[in-house]
Amino acid sequence: MKERKEMKVVAHRGYSGCYPENTMLSFQNAVKQHCDEIELDVQLTKDGKVVVIHDEKVDRTTDGTGNVRDFLFKDLEKLNASNVWNGKHPFQHIPSFEEYCEWAATVPVVTNIELKTGIVYYEDIEQKTVDILEKYGLMKKVMFSSFNHCSLITAKRIAPSIPVGALIGDTGIVNAGFYCEKYGFEYYHPSYKALNDVAVAELKVHGIELNVWTVNGMAELEMLHDWGVRGVISNYPSVCRHYIDGWK
Ligand code: G3P
Ligand code: CA
Repeated sequence: MKERKEMKVVAHRGYSGCYPENTMLSFQNAVKQHCDEIELDVQLTKDGKVVVIHDEKVDRTTDGTGNVRDFLFKDLEKLNASNVWNGKHPFQHIPSFEEYCEWAATVPVVTNIELKTGIVYYEDIEQKTVDILEKYGLMKKVMFSSFNHCSLITAKRIAPSIPVGALIGDTGIVNAGFYCEKYGFEYYHPSYKALNDVAVAELKVHGIELNVWTVNGMAELEMLHDWGVRGVISNYPSVCRHYIDGWK
């Protein structure tokens, strides 16, 4: 029988396969399903509040229209973030990052905070996010990730103890291990489509651990297990949890 290694189950935008993404409902249900970590996305409102939402516009996930950066928080939180679920779930507001942190301080979960600065660069979002983590005593229960690796370097400068992961799309980086080590990134966060035996071996040489997205199929999960990845970021954390626990 194959020797099994532990893998972290990371709930992508919370339990987004079954609940409205990036809402308190999706985060609470991810913890109920015993995920190890929660991944979420942060941006800034017009009045500088750190909020939890994936897109730069509110159109896809809510009943509103427009850019997150053009909303005051008091108006943003009136939007219904469960709009696309056609009544399956009750009204959900877009959480402030503070609301999330107040709750996260009470549950045994690590948070992977994606700084969404790849399209809109939100000035000082790294400092504002760290200030909130300090306020709620969460500095040891988080990591940062971003497609904008300058944001990771900034976060490292502000809070060197918080690990960071370099997000990368389907094409990957040829010498990702060298790159992450050079810039002090503890983790590499590629799409699973970006990986192959050579890439995994190169990362191992440089001591860089992998958290891989978006893993919703068990064939991909098996493949990633065999490569020894640290964590799988999934829209269906309960499915991954059951599958992994079945190895014991
Ligand atoms: O953390 C992995 C994943 O969240 C990256 O893509 O677009 O879902 O934020 P996206
Ligand atoms: Ca994300």
